[in-house]
Amino acid sequence: MTQSLTIARPDDWHLHLRDGAMLQAVLPETARHFGRAIIMPNLVPPVVTGAQATAYRERILSALPKGMQFDPLMVLYLTEQTDPDDVAAAHASGLVKAVKLYPAGATTNSASGVQDFDKVRPTLEKMAEIGLPLCVHGEVTDSDIDIFDREAVFIDRVLDPIRRTTPGLKVVMEHITTSNGVEYVKANAKDLGATITTHHLIINRNHILVGGIKPHYYCLPVAKRESHRLALRAAATSGDARFFLGTDSAPHTDPNKESGCGCAGCFTATNTMALLAHVFDEENALEKLEGFASQNGPAFYGLPVNSETLTLRKSETATVFPEKISSDDGPVTVFDPGFPVFWNVT
Ligand code: DOR
Ligand code: ZN
Repeated sequence: MTQSLTIARPDDWHLHLRDGAMLQAVLPETARHFGRAIIMPNLVPPVVTGAQATAYRERILSALPKGMQFDPLMVLYLTEQTDPDDVAAAHASGLVKAVKLYPAGATTNSASGVQDFDKVRPTLEKMAEIGLPLCVHGEVTDSDIDIFDREAVFIDRVLDPIRRTTPGLKVVMEHITTSNGVEYVKANAKDLGATITTHHLIINRNHILVGGIKPHYYCLPVAKRESHRLALRAAATSGDARFFLGTDSAPHTDPNKESGCGCAGCFTATNTMALLAHVFDEENALEKLEGFASQNGPAFYGLPVNSETLTLRKSETATVFPEKISSDDGPVTVFDPGFPVFWNVT
C-alpha cells in the first residue's frame, strides 16, 4: 500500500554548508528539499562581521545549481570582540537572522568562541532590543564536567543566567540532546525555542560505541542514553511549536571522520526528510511532521511558511539512499539509520 504526505516545503534551522569544494558538493543535497536554512558560521576563519556574512552568502548563492531555489539565512559568530552596532546593521539590512554562541572549545572550529560572558553582554542587550535571536551551542567545556553532562550543566550555569540578565532575548537552544533540555524549554514559555536533529531522534550512545566505535555516529553534542532520545522524540512529535527541525547536518570527509581523532558531525542532508517521515510514522504522528519541519521554525523567526510543498511517499520496497556523496575534498558518508526506511521524497 502506498501512503503519501504533502507538507509545506520544509526549512532547516541549523545547517553546516562549509565553503569551497565541500559547499559545492553538499549544497544541492539541502536545496533539493529545503526552502531555507540557518547557515552556521563556524568556518575558518569564522563569519564574524556583516561584511563576511554578505560575502559568504554570495559564495553560497553562486554554488547553487541552476534551477534550484534556496534562501540561505545568515548567522554571525559571536566573539568577545563582536561590535553590537555591526550586528544591528546586519540585522536591519535583512541579511542576518541570528547570532551564534559557541562556548570556546565546545566543538568544530569553536576556538574563537566566548570565554567571558560579560564581554558579550552589550551585544546580547542590543539583540534583545532589536529582536534578533541568539542560537546557542549549549555545552559547557570545563574539563571537570563529564561530556554526557555538558548540556545539563550549561543550562544551569550559563543559559539560565544569560536569560535572566537579558530579558527579552530570544534564544534557540540548538540540537538539544537531553530530557533536561526538553524540560527547560517547556518550563520557559517566553522567547525560547529549541531545534532537534534527525540523528538524535534515531541514535543513542550505544549506537556509537557498542560492537566497535562508529565514527559516523559521533557528533556534538554527543548522543545520550535512550531515555533522552525518547524525550526528544516525544518533544518533536508533540506538536509543541517551540520545537523545530535543525538538522545540524555537518559534512566531514571520510578520512577526517575515520581517524585516530575523528571529527564530530553527522551528514544527514540527503535523507533527513525520509528519515523524519519514518520516525513520525513510527510515533503515529505523521500529522505533526509539517509543524516540526515547516511551520514552527518560521513562526519562531517571524518569517512566512514556504508557499511551495514537498511530498513524501511510503512504498513497499525499502528506499536506497546513496552511501556517500563525493566532493573534490573527498567522500562524505551519508548518515545510515541502521534500519530499512520505506519513505522517500517524491
Ligand atoms: O557534530 C557537530 N559538528 N557539532 C557541532 O556543533 C559542529 C559540527 C561541525 O561543524 O562539524
Ligand atoms: Zn552545528
